[in-house]
Amino acid sequence: MILTRPLIIAATLFVSALAAALPAHASSEASPAIEVWKSPTCGCCQKWADYLTENGFTVSTKNTTQGMLNRIKAQAGIGPKLASCHTAQIDGYTIEGHVPAGDIKRLLEERPDAIGLAVPDMPLGSPGMEQPDGKTDPYEVLLVKKDGSTEVFAQH
Ligand code: CU
Ligand code: CU
Repeated sequence: MILTRPLIIAATLFVSALAAALPAHASSEASPAIEVWKSPTCGCCQKWADYLTENGFTVSTKNTTQGMLNRIKAQAGIGPKLASCHTAQIDGYTIEGHVPAGDIKRLLEERPDAIGLAVPDMPLGSPGMEQPDGKTDPYEVLLVKKDGSTEVFAQH
């Protein structure tokens, strides 16, 4: 388990190298690879992973324990107030919780100097959290800066 972080970094570097090798015009069409760390018993995590696949991402899911998830979040700089269920890594960024695909794509285009994006908790109606009765809560996608501060990246 201790080796997982270097593996993530190695995988990220590999993906970056692949992306750099692609012709420029292909970058907007390529399906970015995203690694999702989740609890095996959390259905909404799997739904979010499936949603990303439907939206053109190449998704690999890794089931792990809550203790390991907490360590992954802490190492990435995702504090308890920003935490949700699953944590994902894509192209050097961390994606915490039920973040919409469009916001991840915008992050990868704009490439801000930041840790990544977070949707704390699990807002009803966010991707993977759709309710049978259609109930939705308004929520914000936060840009998490390297100093731990946040700013609103998108509102839904
Ligand atoms: Cu969830
Ligand atoms: Cu989840």
